[in-house]
Amino acid sequence: MSRLCRFLKLAFAVVVPVMIGTSAVAFAGTDPAQFAPGGVWRDTDGNPIDAHAGCILFHEGIYYWYGEAKAGRTFLPDCNKSWGGTRVDMAGVSCYSSTNLYDWKSEGLALPAVSGAPGDLNPGNVVERPKIIYNRKTKQFVMWMHIDSADYHEARLGVAVSDSPTGPFTYRGSFRPDAGVWPLNVTDADKTAGTGNYLARDFQKGQMARDMTVFVDDDGKAYIFYASEENSTMHVSLLTDDYLKTAGKYSRILVGRSTEAPAVFKHDGKYYLIASGCTGWDPNTARSAVADSIFGPWKELGNPCAGPDADKTFHGQSAFILPMQDSNKFIFMADRWNKWALASSRYLWLPLEFDGQEKPLVPWRNNWSLSVAKTLNISQASSPTTE
Ligand code: DGJ
Repeated sequence: MSRLCRFLKLAFAVVVPVMIGTSAVAFAGTDPAQFAPGGVWRDTDGNPIDAHAGCILFHEGIYYWYGEAKAGRTFLPDCNKSWGGTRVDMAGVSCYSSTNLYDWKSEGLALPAVSGAPGDLNPGNVVERPKIIYNRKTKQFVMWMHIDSADYHEARLGVAVSDSPTGPFTYRGSFRPDAGVWPLNVTDADKTAGTGNYLARDFQKGQMARDMTVFVDDDGKAYIFYASEENSTMHVSLLTDDYLKTAGKYSRILVGRSTEAPAVFKHDGKYYLIASGCTGWDPNTARSAVADSIFGPWKELGNPCAGPDADKTFHGQSAFILPMQDSNKFIFMADRWNKWALASSRYLWLPLEFDGQEKPLVPWRNNWSLSVAKTLNISQASSPTTE
């Protein structure tokens, strides 16, 4: 561990918890209510919201915000690790509810970590990027997540179910997706084992899956996007009708582009993806892509961000795109990671616009309210819902 690393570890371990306790940045309950991207956002009990890299589900008039729960957990820095160097013990998946997107009530842990026993949900492992969808046929809430060992070598997908949006979710286990199946767009070269051909290497055992998201299409079919092949290439894979497994139909997209943090939405009949590159917890330039078919081909559209530090996604990383229920508009949700004190990482939500053609734009705003987002000039938008 370098001297600088040791210094930062000490400084952040001591200073950051004090900063969290005293910050006065208002998020909710002000009049008029406003979002302050990057501020400390508090729940209705006054505690900082602890729901990182998550998603929002709208169900029967209520928004549910789920995310990685990290508060109160052991700070475990290891500056020698290539995957980013710091982590916290995992607390589980948190859930908050709201009727207006400003005021969030803590609903506790929808999926708690399980201490004292080995297994995916042991606090020493990784549960990241939880995404929850509702299955109208089974009437179940289905949670998908990235499951990993502390050093990220497992690269698996986990799934849990619940009859209630707030849980408790029952964990169904984890797996490597699409074992023994070639993707729809496979080539003969892809099938040939060789150095660096991770698709062929993992054909029997199942493909690697790290950063992920799920997307439910207008016809009720659900798809999971996951960073695969040692994070070099993204896969998009159809889920079974009960949303509990991959169905064995998938394609490789953004091949060799090292894409993480996918967030997917649909607008004007086209599929859109906003994502990041792979730089651990450090920010990089966001990228966007569009496709007529969810399996591709996907055409890259470049960085959607505009304004100060747009080349670093405003020091954030994409998490989710929320379609607003009453206005055909979208909110871009991102995490501003504090890699030395992950539990105090913050949230960037910004209205998403279009450039008049097909490119999504996310301009920076210090403060904004939902009424601003609703008046943005987004014409002819389709209206995907989150339930
Ligand atoms: C970047 C990913 O997007 C995060 O979810 C997390 O896995 C970090 N890498 C770990 O370094």
